[in-house]
Amino acid sequence: MKGLLLAGGHGTRLRPLTFTGNKHMLPIANKPMILYGLEHLIKAGVKEIGIILGPIKEGVVELLGDGSKYGVKIKYIDQPEPRGLAHAVLVSEEFLAGEPFVMYLGDNMLKQGVKPMLKQFEEGTYDCVIGVSEVRDPSRYGVVVFDDKKNIKKLVEKPKQPISKWALIGVYVFNEKILDAAKKIRPSWRGELEITDAIQLLLENNCKIGVQFVRGWWKDTGKPEDLLEANQLVLQDLKPANKGVVEEGATITGNVSIGKETVVRSRTTIRGPVIIGEHCEIGSNTYIGPYTSIGDHVTIRNSEVENSIVMEGAYIDCGKRITDSLIGREAKIIGFENNVPKGHKLVLGDMTYVSI
Ligand code: TTP
Repeated sequence: MKGLLLAGGHGTRLRPLTFTGNKHMLPIANKPMILYGLEHLIKAGVKEIGIILGPIKEGVVELLGDGSKYGVKIKYIDQPEPRGLAHAVLVSEEFLAGEPFVMYLGDNMLKQGVKPMLKQFEEGTYDCVIGVSEVRDPSRYGVVVFDDKKNIKKLVEKPKQPISKWALIGVYVFNEKILDAAKKIRPSWRGELEITDAIQLLLENNCKIGVQFVRGWWKDTGKPEDLLEANQLVLQDLKPANKGVVEEGATITGNVSIGKETVVRSRTTIRGPVIIGEHCEIGSNTYIGPYTSIGDHVTIRNSEVENSIVMEGAYIDCGKRITDSLIGREAKIIGFENNVPKGHKLVLGDMTYVSI
């Protein structure tokens, strides 16, 4: 059993954060997103993992290397243009060498991991096992339409009409038959070779498809609000820890994890779940509210931050309350000095989103 972890694509919906780095390196609870998928594959016993990389590679190879530090073999597979998930399978043909494989979309977060789907595949002589989860907005996903007995009737990518509430999650187990199917399908209206269409072709060719109704949460992190929600879901299980220094006069409640060499100054309140990385300075006159992740080397003072992801090296000293925000690496948010005329002074990158 091989693994195929997808980290290609443009990540356009997460711009400007994806102008300067691979989307799958964005942190969720202070851990690059791609590691969640990689760890699931490793836990399920997968030893050889191909990683699809597209035009934006920054950081992935540096982090994962040849896989030896994780006890697995990693091979990087180039997909110069994101021409669809079935196209990602096609460019991996040589790596897959006819073996069955788990395909994991690197921007998906799945509480139950991949073991249960692998088990179903191995015990049931299936050609493919797909996972489905109930969603409120099926038009964003590939969906599976079932008959009364929960047999698959058909699969449709991003349906315009609400024909099913069951979305395909971004984890699939396939044998070699998916390659033939991927070679036969044509690009969709959005110009991509859709994996949903390839699985539909398997269905039409009477291949045996297993369905798993996934337990626990599943999150596809395409948009900023999805990243914040994934961050909340992971932080729900945060274990408290303190490797830093909490000064007298600081108040900490709930589950809070504080990294090495981090100082929480007096007159600071932190209400968990909150994770804070290493070498940070938090406070004073600061409030950090629930569901906030703060990366390494961050300074926050004279400010309030809640339900947000603050990335490495950011500096916040603004006398304001910041909520539901993604703050990129080395970003600076500072308050007014006593000069006039007063106003918001902004230096914003292309496609930045600000709500003031
Ligand atoms: P998408 O979310 O469909 O695409 P994207 O990540 O480029 O984002 P956007 O729509 O905002 O531009 O991709 C789902 C996952 O699959 C994601 O982890 C990237 C990966 N992917 C590839 O590796 N190759 C591809 O050809 C495509 C379409 C996606």
